Amino acid sequence: MKRLGMISVTTLALSASGVLADELSVVCSAEQDWCDLMVSAFEAEHPDTDVLMVRKSTGETLAQVRAEAGNPKIDVWWGGTGDPHLIAAEEGLTQASGVDTSELLGWAQNMADISNGKAIGIYAGALGIAYNADILSEKSIEPPQCWADLEDPRFEGEIQVANPNSSGTAYTELATFVQLFGEDEAMVKLAAVGKNVNSYTKSGSAPSKAAARGETGVSIGFMHDMVKLAAQGFPLKIVAPCEGTGYEVGAVSVIEGARNPEAAKAWVAFALRADVQSRAPEVGSFQVPSNSNAKVAPESPDLASIKLIDYDFATYGSSDTRGRLLARWDAEVGDPNPQK
Ligand code: G6P
Repeated sequence: MKRLGMISVTTLALSASGVLADELSVVCSAEQDWCDLMVSAFEAEHPDTDVLMVRKSTGETLAQVRAEAGNPKIDVWWGGTGDPHLIAAEEGLTQASGVDTSELLGWAQNMADISNGKAIGIYAGALGIAYNADILSEKSIEPPQCWADLEDPRFEGEIQVANPNSSGTAYTELATFVQLFGEDEAMVKLAAVGKNVNSYTKSGSAPSKAAARGETGVSIGFMHDMVKLAAQGFPLKIVAPCEGTGYEVGAVSVIEGARNPEAAKAWVAFALRADVQSRAPEVGSFQVPSNSNAKVAPESPDLASIKLIDYDFATYGSSDTRGRLLARWDAEVGDPNPQK
């Protein structure tokens, strides 16, 4: 008895000293280099925890979390647009982490409020259009200024955007069109833009990377991803569409039934810290951080100077709305060559 008592005291002491779990399984839906930085920074503070991380787009991750309900392989889902995180919360696929959110800005707390603490905002970023200035000038194509311009035949075969089924970025675009133009008109406009689309990619940042390399003239995506590429010297110009635009609140969620819940919650607390969020610009991630004490990089698009819609996260982050909009997108816009 005495010996057993001693053992349990030792074990307790160990967990109090910061040993969380041997492993933590993270799906990261932000950019790969930021995912890698987060893993190495977390492991540096928790040397006994081996973080196993994969990068997956937001819609793809929601599909995995749904498929693994009841027997999840993922502990924590970090990054990616907030709508699918809210849907996972609504469907009981994630759990509240109970982490202190008092330092977070209103839009990040709002996400936690909508989801009863299950999805917490970590960053924000606005949607926009990018074009390769060299390509458009070589082809004498007038650059776009508005979403409506993308319907013009002058952009035939020149536009790349992600598929909203797999990509949170492209779902944000779909929901933005619906909020700007109404649902029926949005489908008509997206189908008209679709006539000019050369390929629908799986991930949301791929189209702007293609535009940067000159593989496509125009991309739709998050402005901070475009800023990253422009800062690397690519001839990419960024447009805030004249009609106004939507934005994402990137989120973090702990998976319901996670095998390593304590480590997962430690990850959430870590991801909300000002000093941790302030490191994103080291890898060119220029989202606006959610912690009010985190440093905002000078390169970060200034959301106050962009005409932003009042994005309705409760509606567009609901299972019913997303299911309906994606079914309509598949039927009325559609990807002629879906990527496997
Ligand atoms: C990029 C952006 C993130 C965004 C993510 C969504 O990584 O930097 O801000 O959350 O795309 O990815 P997805 O592939 O789902 O569109």
